[in-house]
Amino acid sequence: MKKIIVAIDGYSGCGKSTTAKAVAKVLQYTYLDSGAMYRAVTLFFLRNNTDLTNSQDIISNLKEIKITFHFNEAKGIQEIFMNGENVENEIRGMAVSSYVSEVSKLENVRTEMVNIQRKMGIDKGIVMDGRDIGTVVFPEAELKIFMTADTTIRAERRQKELLENGERISLDSVKENLESRDAIDTGRAVSPLKKASDAIEIDTSYLAFKDQVSKIIELAKERM
Ligand code: C5P
Repeated sequence: MKKIIVAIDGYSGCGKSTTAKAVAKVLQYTYLDSGAMYRAVTLFFLRNNTDLTNSQDIISNLKEIKITFHFNEAKGIQEIFMNGENVENEIRGMAVSSYVSEVSKLENVRTEMVNIQRKMGIDKGIVMDGRDIGTVVFPEAELKIFMTADTTIRAERRQKELLENGERISLDSVKENLESRDAIDTGRAVSPLKKASDAIEIDTSYLAFKDQVSKIIELAKERM
């Protein structure tokens, strides 16, 4: 069987990461959460008061960021490290979520992230989720999925995740954040979020998690 690239794109809070993680586990592929990378850069910029209107400031700050992923055996998940610090929890909070789409609009940031992502997919056998994976990072991916879900359902799921992480946020605020990120992500000039013409759309609003995972695995196996 040949190794393939599975690209999973879609709106915020559709369950892309949880699905991608489960698919990667079954296929014994590497999983890469590209959103975590944009979130880690955002955290660094927030901590360093990077001026997003100043490209020199952006470029010099970007040079100081080293992003790595390490598998946490106990939790069975891949965790993201920024300059050696485990930032897995902090990047999921509202402070980063409120700012990440502004940072992700920046061309310099995207170029840097896409280079790293392409290197990680060079040997294939990878499941990557994000906004531009099927359109920009791996336009040649053998399987492209575009995930959607009803906004209220997405907000409820994200609110639960935040609560599990110790942050109690109102449903309206979570929904507002998802909608504003979607608007910025779809409207930006560089690599906007859009469905690749050859992507398969999956609406997860009323789909059981195990069914969406097995659907993607079935599609992946057809392409191996
Ligand atoms: O996937 P997640 O919701 O964690 O992504 C956080 C943000 O990172 C998105 O709202 C988007 O602005 C940005 N992002 C992106 N391109 C990707 C992945 C994420 O612009 N490939």
